[in-house]
Amino acid sequence: MAKAYRALPVLEVKNIVKTYGGVKALDEVSMALTAGNVHCLAGENGCGKSTLIKIISGVEQPDSGSIYIDGKLQEKLSPFSSIMAGIQVIYQDFSLFPNLSVAENITITSQVAIRAKLFSASKAKIAAATIIKELGLTLDLSAKVEALSVADKQLTAICRALINDARVIVMDEPTTALTHTEVDYLFDVVRKLRERGVALVFVSHKLEESLQVSQDVTILRNGKHIISGIASEFDRKSLTQYITGRDVSEAREITSPVMTAKPLMEVSHLCSSGAFNDVSFTLHSGEILGITGLLGSGRTEIAEALFGVRPAESGTIEIDGQAIRVRTIRDAIKAGIGYLPEDRLTQGLFLDKSVGDNIIAGSLDKHRSAFGLLDGEGISKTTQSMFDRLKIKAKSVSAPVRSLSGGNAQRVVLGKLLANQPKVLILNGPTVGVDIGSKEQILEILRNEANLGRGVIVISDDSLELVSVCNRVLVVRQGEIVDTLTGSQITATNIQEMTTA
Ligand SMILES: Nc1ncnc2c1ncn2[C@@H]1O[C@H](COP(=O)(O)OP(=O)(O)OP(=O)(O)O)[C@@H](O)[C@H]1O
Ligand SMILES: [Mg+2]
Repeated sequence: MAKAYRALPVLEVKNIVKTYGGVKALDEVSMALTAGNVHCLAGENGCGKSTLIKIISGVEQPDSGSIYIDGKLQEKLSPFSSIMAGIQVIYQDFSLFPNLSVAENITITSQVAIRAKLFSASKAKIAAATIIKELGLTLDLSAKVEALSVADKQLTAICRALINDARVIVMDEPTTALTHTEVDYLFDVVRKLRERGVALVFVSHKLEESLQVSQDVTILRNGKHIISGIASEFDRKSLTQYITGRDVSEAREITSPVMTAKPLMEVSHLCSSGAFNDVSFTLHSGEILGITGLLGSGRTEIAEALFGVRPAESGTIEIDGQAIRVRTIRDAIKAGIGYLPEDRLTQGLFLDKSVGDNIIAGSLDKHRSAFGLLDGEGISKTTQSMFDRLKIKAKSVSAPVRSLSGGNAQRVVLGKLLANQPKVLILNGPTVGVDIGSKEQILEILRNEANLGRGVIVISDDSLELVSVCNRVLVVRQGEIVDTLTGSQITATNIQEMTTA
């Protein structure tokens, strides 16, 4: 009875089993949430984290196992009974109504929950204001949600959870789209939630962050419960070992490309008012070039201009010495540029189509015979090899994308990009949402692509990732390239100092 001093868990799951058509997503998993504690739920892509969340929110029913709320066994937890018991999940898209105000969004589900016949806007505003004040936030109650930053949308979702008397708040990868300052702010709010006695579940692939904010840890691997314990007894290394089942090297591993006199791509004086100014750089064949900067620095806008998402207003882009015009995405693809966008929720996957169909969707023209016929054999070879190289966790290439975990769906997008064999690969946050063990595999794939003679641009604020693969790193601040790091200058400390200077 080592843990006898602990209070009765607010929520406890015991020996949960959940299978999806033969795949054991959860295999005897247990977890106990204590009031006032943050519980870090960690593990590789596809290990079962989101499935466990669906079970405690009543969205999915377990095959076996039990759920206790305040020590009381729940015979059948439905989404409604879960909400009534005070369990609130903040999903990645926050499930807010974009065209309603902050106040309306905060109060709307509680109105629904108590089935209020009359929705009083003024009462809603008072209730919302109380919560915002208690948390010490500065949210504008009458602002439309669509006009808010990601961080403020998240805070709105948190306030909504609280107004519904949340006793358990689950956050699935809450910091992915936040700047460093916003993360600090979120963690302040988390501390206030703890003081109110809320039990939190925190799912994130960023290990330092998870350790910093959590008191308890549960680690899953392949649906199995590996360990639960007190956060202070873990560090990055041990956490990584439990998560992956092995040691993971995060060392710098760079092969210098042969710098030919002529660059593969040359960008000169690119401007886009309000986004970036006078951006010039070269990219050589075989090179991995990092572009780093804080969220909002202009790093994403530069990538989007190169890919024709938001074309630049002036400046030139040359590939193999030829000036190219990039007014649309089509122009960019035709010129041999491929792009992996940052926004994981709008990656243009066909969810009901198979993994294979999605991988090949962008490169069908490359698999046609001279007579325009599709080369079935070539197609299945390409899709199978991407499936294997990217270690996509699914039954086979014919599994629908909808059945994949978040991180595995992300790999399908990368597979689709690689299958098209672009000359220039631009990847915005290539390992966002990817687990620590697979991160190195994806970086290795980028090294291979560079070795094949492609030019690779990695847009990232993950300094370990940049240190691990980049030959050069451009630092962007307020829309301008302010520094270039090469060779031994590429260190995590330098990158952090220069992006925030
Ligand atoms: N509706 C479904 N049909 C079939 N298989 C599913 C379904 N939902 C999840 N799975 C499978 O269950 C396993 C666990 O998936 P889950 O989404 O819980 O992973 P996760 O830990 O959240 O991963 P990530 O970090 O990538 O988000 C995966 O193998 C996934 O493919
Ligand atoms: Mg998930």
